[in-house]
Amino acid sequence: MAGKDIVVGLDVGTTKVCALVGDVDEKGLYILGMGSAESKGLRKGIVVNIESTVQSIERAIAEASASTGVEIRSVYVGIAGGHIKSFESYGATGIKGHEVTEADIERALDAAKAVYVPLDREVLHVIPVEYTVDGETGITNPLGMSGVRLEARVQIVTGSVTAVQNLVRCCEKAGLEVVDIVLEPLASAIATLTDSEKQDGVVLVDIGGGTTDIAFYKDGVLQQTAVIAIGGNHITNDIAIGLRLPVEEAERLKQSHGSALPVTDNRDDIEILLAGREKKSIPVNYLNEIINPRCEELFEIVKKEIQQMGVYDRAAYGVVLTGGASKLKGIDRLAEAVIGMPVRKAVPEGVGGMLSALKDPKYSTGVGLLLYGMDEIREPVGYGDIFSNILSRMKKWVMGFITERRSYYV
Ligand SMILES: Nc1ncnc2c1ncn2[C@@H]1O[C@H](COP(=O)(O)OP(=O)(O)OP(=O)(O)O)[C@@H](O)[C@H]1O
Ligand SMILES: [Mg+2]
Repeated sequence: MAGKDIVVGLDVGTTKVCALVGDVDEKGLYILGMGSAESKGLRKGIVVNIESTVQSIERAIAEASASTGVEIRSVYVGIAGGHIKSFESYGATGIKGHEVTEADIERALDAAKAVYVPLDREVLHVIPVEYTVDGETGITNPLGMSGVRLEARVQIVTGSVTAVQNLVRCCEKAGLEVVDIVLEPLASAIATLTDSEKQDGVVLVDIGGGTTDIAFYKDGVLQQTAVIAIGGNHITNDIAIGLRLPVEEAERLKQSHGSALPVTDNRDDIEILLAGREKKSIPVNYLNEIINPRCEELFEIVKKEIQQMGVYDRAAYGVVLTGGASKLKGIDRLAEAVIGMPVRKAVPEGVGGMLSALKDPKYSTGVGLLLYGMDEIREPVGYGDIFSNILSRMKKWVMGFITERRSYYV
């Protein structure tokens, strides 16, 4: 049985579902094993086919159980998709000159989260960004300080009720209890960013199959987040259409010969397998002339998003790229040129017993879910009524909410 020291992260992605099993002790997190299955029930990060998503989850969980001997009952599940939105909110409380207590912090956070959220949206996270005591800003932990007025600045992350509800329903149909729903960019950031990056400012960009997740960190906390509904699958589809190939062949070519740079030094010809199983030779640069514009478009959108967030000059460490599609050759050089910031590629870090197969950017979200779960087990979040209420509130959700879907880019 998944006891209190076992944590399971379930990343339900557009291309794969993976379940990671970790063991938490006082030294940290030790990964026991994992299971993975192809995902066919999602589009752009959102569940569009419950049955096939349930099957993928069941397969991934069965493999993870078999490889670790752990009977998996509950999971931390990640959520993304263009429906995710985040905004800033403020709350204040009087502290009457005494020392700030946990209860005061909770009251300030309660005031900050007392905002109007449309009926079709659900609060996923309320993330404290900074506190102000009697006008003194930039305080990360006000506990024990003296003053008269405590203010909290928070990021409120919301998602479409329908999208969240469908994801939870898939887990439940697969026989799993959802302990918490975690924003995927937040999970990926936990697994890849260094403390200095988070402190001095960095933009995490996780390019998956159907979405590109963005998270801006500064002063050690997540400040802003956004999800763009474009990912590596769009590149594959462009190749398939441009060269009239089956999608599997387009994917193979992208991974073996593809580059994000428009023209490479490689002047070789490559053999491609057309839909009718006929073979043909083309210069490798034909392939890259298709890949490059899509990547450029993606990074232009990322740049616009960074500018809209108003953080372009605040990310001293530039951009960190992760997610499966960050494995594309030359993608970091192109990102640097288009965004105009330094770029590094990252794989998940920070856990013990990590299987070598997991040191892959496509597992950043999965490993991050485990690390998030570990933090919750060790130190239940102070402002946790929001987190713990998610599930009870979900149980109260009824069918028939307005099914408005908002995407930033489609
Ligand atoms: N070697 C490679 N070169 C280029 N692209 C790659 C490579 N390996 C994987 N990819 C791409 O990575 C993408 C999948 O990444 P990932 O597993 O992070 O996505 P996901 O989590 O399933 O999807 P999402 O997070 O968007 O819901 C696919 O588009 C795949 O083509
Ligand atoms: Mg993903």
